[in-house]
Amino acid sequence: MSVGPRKRVAALISGRGSNMISLMAAARQPDYPAEIALVLSNKLDAPGLVTARDAGIATAALSHKDHASREDFERAMHAVLEEHAIDLVCLAGFMRLLTPWFVGQWQGRMLNIHPALLPSFRGLHTHERALEDGVKIHGATVHFVVPDMDAGPIIAQAAVPVVDGDTPATLAARVLAQEHVIYPLALKLVASGATRIDGNRVLTGEQVSDHLLVVPTPA
Ligand code: GAR
Repeated sequence: MSVGPRKRVAALISGRGSNMISLMAAARQPDYPAEIALVLSNKLDAPGLVTARDAGIATAALSHKDHASREDFERAMHAVLEEHAIDLVCLAGFMRLLTPWFVGQWQGRMLNIHPALLPSFRGLHTHERALEDGVKIHGATVHFVVPDMDAGPIIAQAAVPVVDGDTPATLAARVLAQEHVIYPLALKLVASGATRIDGNRVLTGEQVSDHLLVVPTPA
């Protein structure tokens, strides 16, 4: 599927980095069209930084608290991304809102994963809100980043059932397992050049089953 050299990807994290780990695992496959060239965190003590370092991946940590404004912080981040010749950015639990300036620098080259079936449940506490609203189907979305929060052309989604007895934690775990499936899949589609953005839609030329996963009710 891959044409040309592997794309150099930066994973941006703020915490444990389980999605980052799923991308690192996928990128270990020789035919995967991307490599994780950098892990960058806005939290100096993010556990994911240690995981990345242990795996031999370059890391950088920049605290937004050391910068006068949101954009100053982003300009510093952007400089690090350029130093590492990054082609694509994957937000992987990066819990900072980004300015239109930064988003503009990476337009069409920055992906995010969100723990809900967008456009439902943008923002925080998605699993609590899904339970409060009584939805029967919940899930996760990988999308291109645009200036609006948790919006932008959708690359892949996974749906999971909500079952009797679910708590935010059990539902989060069911969704997270699928996040780890669709993020590597979405990055593969983008890095291999299979995606084309048409308005709000991402066309992939792939089979539907390759970018829409529906997970059966757990036994
Ligand atoms: C993931 O569930 C991700 O979808 C979510 O944060 C978690 C990070 O976990 N992202 C957002 O809520 C962004 N709006 P991880 O550090 O283990 O990948």
